[in-house]
Amino acid sequence: MTLVNALAGLLGDRCTASADAMASYLEDERGLYRGEAACLVFPESTDEVAAVVRLCVEHGASLVPQGGNTGYCGGATPSSATQVLLNLSRLNRIRAIDPVGMTVTAEAGVILANLHDAVEAEDLFFPLSMGSEGSCQLGGNLATNAGGLAVLKYGMAGELVLGLEVVLPDGSVLNTLKPLRKDNTGYHLRQLFLGAEGTLGVITAAVLKLFPRPTEFQTAWLSVSGVAAACQLLPLARRASGDCVTSFEYISGQSLALLAQHVEGLRPPLAGEHHVLLELSGALPPGGLRPQLEQLLEQALEAGWAEDAVIAESLDQRRALWALRENIPEAEKRAGRSIKHDVSVPIADIPAYCEQAPRRLAALEPLRLSIYGHIGDGNLHYNVLAPEASDPAAFKTDKGEAISRVVHDLAAEMGGSFSAEHGIGQLKTAELARYGDPAALALMRALKLAIDPEGRMNPGKLLD
Ligand code: MLT
Ligand code: ZN
Repeated sequence: MTLVNALAGLLGDRCTASADAMASYLEDERGLYRGEAACLVFPESTDEVAAVVRLCVEHGASLVPQGGNTGYCGGATPSSATQVLLNLSRLNRIRAIDPVGMTVTAEAGVILANLHDAVEAEDLFFPLSMGSEGSCQLGGNLATNAGGLAVLKYGMAGELVLGLEVVLPDGSVLNTLKPLRKDNTGYHLRQLFLGAEGTLGVITAAVLKLFPRPTEFQTAWLSVSGVAAACQLLPLARRASGDCVTSFEYISGQSLALLAQHVEGLRPPLAGEHHVLLELSGALPPGGLRPQLEQLLEQALEAGWAEDAVIAESLDQRRALWALRENIPEAEKRAGRSIKHDVSVPIADIPAYCEQAPRRLAALEPLRLSIYGHIGDGNLHYNVLAPEASDPAAFKTDKGEAISRVVHDLAAEMGGSFSAEHGIGQLKTAELARYGDPAALALMRALKLAIDPEGRMNPGKLLD
């Protein structure tokens, strides 16, 4: 019996080899990769995932786990007509919410926004948050250790995990699904799978940390005198608010110009070349954070770090400010797509980074910059676009490699990272090989060989 027949025997019409049915699953979010697969399967339980893996073992096939397919590095796109594409969207139950210990146990296919809604109904809060939350899935968030908009206060996806259930490459199930804050019993095996991008096993469920639902959000938009001023503002804001800064985003005037050009109806509230979107939040008595916000804005204005500031006075205004930030990637897409970067450096070095990078890129002009991102995490999306009225594809072919080399080399020289939150996938395997610490790379290869000796799990991703 062929593998596809065996899988169809197991899953019925939740296994398909039809080219039409598979088409949208074979292309990545950014349209960088168009892959191939033997078939696409939709298991509905951990047992079914394990059975799929065991059939792959029997038939010597490899498999590619896929969640909401929203990643930026092609990590969930299969690359060969012999691979099984294992989509987790039907494994989407919330198994338990514990309002006392403040944890949730949820399956990999739960859409992030649905997880938010489910726990908020219990007056609880799951803080992982990002533009794609209406379609990205928990399993993908964890497998890629996603970042997003609230890392400053709550950490990356992996830091929110207490336990994991993982189907291993031999079809056995690793179960560390304990809602324990403290369990100091040897290697923290769950860490192996957070950020492994499905190369060591398939995450099927997780126990996650929850928090009291914030009762107050205070959101402000500031035009600041420069990147250095933005960085000085951060510790001030953290101190003045009792460490309640949840988001601290930088947005350049260039990114706002793209937004004005390509997305209708979005106008920044203030003029200027450098902007910060600052959000304080907490589970506090009502009105608790407003005086702190006003005070810190006054201090920032007095110090000359901020030139002007507005505070969101309603939920609609808060949403409007966030829409400016969250639509920048869409504006870049409509402008013909950018050469995307996702660098991090120590926060104190961001001003030096932003000063030196354009000087080094000058040799590659003409080009347009669009710089924005999670400056409070030391993470910038230092994106580069073709000059207006030129062909973005030709620009990318001619200069993409040289541009990325400048952007990534500078981050590396400053002790930073070429991939702060988007992961490696198939897009950045060569960068990992180039910039990765040799001992770390050797250890990663040794772990891969020990756990997945036959290279069954997501081949060609992460490690080349
Ligand atoms: C964001 O922060 O908006 C994304 O991580 C980056 C992007 O879409 O460019
Ligand atoms: Zn980002």
